Amino acid sequence: MAREFSTVGVVGLGTMGAGIVEVFARNGIDVLAVEISESALERGRATLTGSTDRAVAKGKLAEADRDALHERVRFAVGLDALHSVDLVIEAVPEHLDLKQRIFAELDRVCRPDTILATNTSSLSVTEISVATTRPNQVIGIHFFNPAPVMKLVEVVRTVVTAPEVVADVEALCARLGKVDVTINDRAGFIANALLFGYLNHAVAMVESHYATREDIDAAMKLGCGLPMGPLALMDLIGLDTAYEILDTMYRRGGRDRRHAPVPLLKQMVTAGLLGRKSGRGFYTYQRPGSPVVVPDEATPPAAEAALADGARALTKVGVVGSGTMATGIIEVFAKAGFEVVSVTRGAEKSAAVCEAVKTSLNKGVVRGRLAEADRDAALGRISWSATLDHLADVDLVVEAVVEELSVKKALFASLDEICKPGVVLATTTSSLPVIDVAMATQRPADVVGLHFFNPAPVMPLVEVVRTIRTSPEATATARAVCAALGKAGVVCGDRSGFIVNALLFPYLNDAVKMLEASYSTADDIDHAMKLGCGYPMGPFELLDVVGLDVALAIQRELYLELREPGFAPAPLLEHLVTAGYLGRKTRRGFRDHSHR
Ligand SMILES: NC(=O)c1ccc[n+]([C@@H]2O[C@H](COP(=O)([O-])OP(=O)(O)OC[C@H]3O[C@@H](n4cnc5c(N)ncnc54)[C@H](O)[C@@H]3O)[C@@H](O)[C@H]2O)c1
Repeated sequence: MAREFSTVGVVGLGTMGAGIVEVFARNGIDVLAVEISESALERGRATLTGSTDRAVAKGKLAEADRDALHERVRFAVGLDALHSVDLVIEAVPEHLDLKQRIFAELDRVCRPDTILATNTSSLSVTEISVATTRPNQVIGIHFFNPAPVMKLVEVVRTVVTAPEVVADVEALCARLGKVDVTINDRAGFIANALLFGYLNHAVAMVESHYATREDIDAAMKLGCGLPMGPLALMDLIGLDTAYEILDTMYRRGGRDRRHAPVPLLKQMVTAGLLGRKSGRGFYTYQRPGSPVVVPDEATPPAAEAALADGARALTKVGVVGSGTMATGIIEVFAKAGFEVVSVTRGAEKSAAVCEAVKTSLNKGVVRGRLAEADRDAALGRISWSATLDHLADVDLVVEAVVEELSVKKALFASLDEICKPGVVLATTTSSLPVIDVAMATQRPADVVGLHFFNPAPVMPLVEVVRTIRTSPEATATARAVCAALGKAGVVCGDRSGFIVNALLFPYLNDAVKMLEASYSTADDIDHAMKLGCGYPMGPFELLDVVGLDVALAIQRELYLELREPGFAPAPLLEHLVTAGYLGRKTRRGFRDHSHR
């Protein structure tokens, strides 16, 4: 029989604590909510009221249930009030000495059988537990932000946590409607260990002006389907909390440089820019605690103004190549009303591409997304050619040929001879330096990267890559083209992986390393990222879809360019690729897909 928890205490009613109070009270458990002062208590109470009122307004909570919820919560200043609760969850700031002091005090105040839990994200639960005389009754219960919404709870057992305490807490999580994964005490547990290197890297991109906050966030939302971008997420977590988590992970997690907090973060914390809770972090909010972003001096001008800013007008576009990307890109341009000249290496290839474009457009018609007349008009705008000379009068060329530098360079040299002056020359490369391609021409200022995602007609994102020689006009033109295609164009520098792959693949690689270290299972890691962070797929699901060989190639590129030790491909990934386990396409990757 699992133990009954009728009253729990929550210590600290900040970003996490107030949400944790709500989770318990919503599920019929009485809560004693404790803060350090009357004013902090008031703030916590206001957060709880605001959250439950929003739930009522959205129709997710009945008014009567809200009132009952509030009746279950009592508030108090100081830990003494917790003398008779069954369980305490501590959610004070991420400092070991503070937490140890609180646990020593809880140990003194609480009944001998009370379970003491910490919501720490990165500190050692073991070190916190030894501040008490009952380390076997100390456990980590790590909720995710916002606690009432996110389904996951990481249950952290130390080497001395009693098995029945673990079982009781697991049963409690089920009662709260949460999914738990139980793991050992390691810095960052599952989710944060995989998340924070990525978040810190995104901050480094802002700090180095590699891309804007808006573009980084849009890239990860639209390119990976994440619920929010990394900088908006930092603001939600709280920059002070994020700083402490990174710092602890750096020190506890093997001094991985990727966890050393980016200096900008420390500066922002010192300046009081803590994120949503202080009303300003990477973004500016309507008021402290508000989720509503308001414009500030870093907000880019309205789209139209930006587009007018030096962008060249264009009507006719050349697309070179006959693969998946070229086919999709031809369709995208033709549908958006551009005249398109497709150039392949022969009439047969042109016929095949033409067939593929027709098939894809027909699918749109069958699904009711495209009128027959629009399909016909789109097809009518495409001309098919096997010679580059037909690109003499286009305004933009998009190259999507094989991913080999020598081939691309030769092509760009030819385009340089054939195309009229002022044309923007774009490469869709996903891994080669754009500057290498640009320097094969006499007009590097007109060369950009236009990195479409697969399938191009569906994916809403295009990365616009500017090299150190790209002119502002060419960049503006590329951005305007993306807008005309109905895509979000995000601008970034010419570095391996651009924005999306540079932020995504090291995280996937880290997940493989975590599996390899036997810290957790593929299922639990996938669960943790989906239910704790709202990712549409877990890392192993995604790797099997992307292809392990593709992931390995990208990770190698990143490692070779940046020489970051943490980016070295996981040996397990290399072995799976060598063994021919490439994912869904070979019916086996991290999982066996042969029966699906
Ligand atoms: N922010 C997140 O997204 C997130 C997610 C999961 C876990 N966590 C963890 O939760 C814990 C709390 O983080 P947070 O972001 O909610 O911090 P926060 O700064 O928003 O809130 C901390 C609260 O603790 C209160 N407090 C400080 N000293 C206290 C004391 N002696 N007694 C009682 N209350 C005290 C503060 O007044 C404040 O309200 C940390 O361990 C953090 O790592 C945070």
